[in-house]
Amino acid sequence: MFVVGCSQLVTLKGEARPRRFGEMRELSIIEDGAMIVRDGRIVRVGKRSEIEALIEQDCEVLDARKRVVMPGFVDAHTHMVFAGTRADEYEMRASGATYQEIAARGGGIKSTVRRTRGAALNELVEAGKKYSEWFLRGGTTTVEAKSGYGLSLEDELKILRAIKKLNEETALGFVPTFLGAHDVPEEYSARREQYVALIIEEMLPAVAGEHLAEYCDVFCEEKVFTTDEAWRILSAARCHGMGLRLHADQLSLSGGAQLAAELGSTTADHLEHTDAKGIAALKSAGVQPVLLPASVYALGLNRYPAAREMIDAGLAVVLATDFNPGSSPTTSMQMVLSLASTQMKMMPAEAITAATINAAYSLNLGDQIGSLEAGKRADFVIHDCDDFREIGYFFGLEHAEAVYVGGRLSFRRGTTFQGKISS
Ligand code: NIG
Ligand code: FE
Repeated sequence: MFVVGCSQLVTLKGEARPRRFGEMRELSIIEDGAMIVRDGRIVRVGKRSEIEALIEQDCEVLDARKRVVMPGFVDAHTHMVFAGTRADEYEMRASGATYQEIAARGGGIKSTVRRTRGAALNELVEAGKKYSEWFLRGGTTTVEAKSGYGLSLEDELKILRAIKKLNEETALGFVPTFLGAHDVPEEYSARREQYVALIIEEMLPAVAGEHLAEYCDVFCEEKVFTTDEAWRILSAARCHGMGLRLHADQLSLSGGAQLAAELGSTTADHLEHTDAKGIAALKSAGVQPVLLPASVYALGLNRYPAAREMIDAGLAVVLATDFNPGSSPTTSMQMVLSLASTQMKMMPAEAITAATINAAYSLNLGDQIGSLEAGKRADFVIHDCDDFREIGYFFGLEHAEAVYVGGRLSFRRGTTFQGKISS
């Protein structure tokens, strides 16, 4: 297949590693670009003139009609398998309640846990298919997906099996993460130590035995898991060969960034309250920060992570949605790009890098996805824009016109019927 007529082919070509400092602004754009795809892989990218000269008679030609073509978004932090919604809490927060107050009353994560425990595997898969479609139509082609709404051995396995099924049955790509330490479940509230033991002694071996997770994550936060508990759980996960991620410093400065650095975790996520010391620790340990501005926005808060300081310190920043029913009910990476630039002062080009190639590296997939380069999987999106900056600039909209995963069309926007009915 020949992809031609790209106003901008945003390749993100560069060194085979995450991008830092000024590199985050270099998107390696080819104006009037074109690309050759064969057997689901990118074979060549270049100027239209040089690529068009290679078109043979029986080749499929896809004309991007002067639109932006770029890699699919890689969303490196989601909690996309859950039952029910929390629209009631959205209403409560509108009347002034905070996320922590709602959680302390038995709402929050605990309420989604109750519903997810009550759902069968196929019900979770059905809901997950709907959300997978939302991701695809927003131009996201790979997601990291966490468990964490089961909090019992069987229910955590059920969620991870649902993720596996979604990976097999939808076009979206999944990287599974075990988050049994998302909260202490109600039945363990008076004996939390036993819950930590259950995670380490039973859940981790079972998850690893079935190869259900590539990463392990812990919600390290006041009233959730302490740094000491997180250390024990993540150290055990490492012994099972899992990579590490960590919910750190989201609602308070709780030592999460320091811990991520000490453990050499792949990522530290959220970081709304991380200070200069935490940033320096992440830098010296080479941990990638995953910033989730949509959760700050959706909780009605105004403390966004210090993205500029992180970029200026040389951290390979990643942006993700944090899609979940509580703190971030959105699958929209476009909205995340908008928030990154308006609230965190990231340059539009830095935000694109954070949402594609840097995200891919944070999932150990940097050699497969995240840029449009020969040899990579042909995961690309035609956006209804002339200039990549418009993706975040026109906000609250879906720009993806056509989404390709492994060279196959996975989404195309439907038809609008223009014009008035004449009477
Ligand atoms: O990343 N912080 C912990 N986990 C989610 C929220 C989950 C929920 O509220 O259901 C987050 O924001
Ligand atoms: Fe999260």
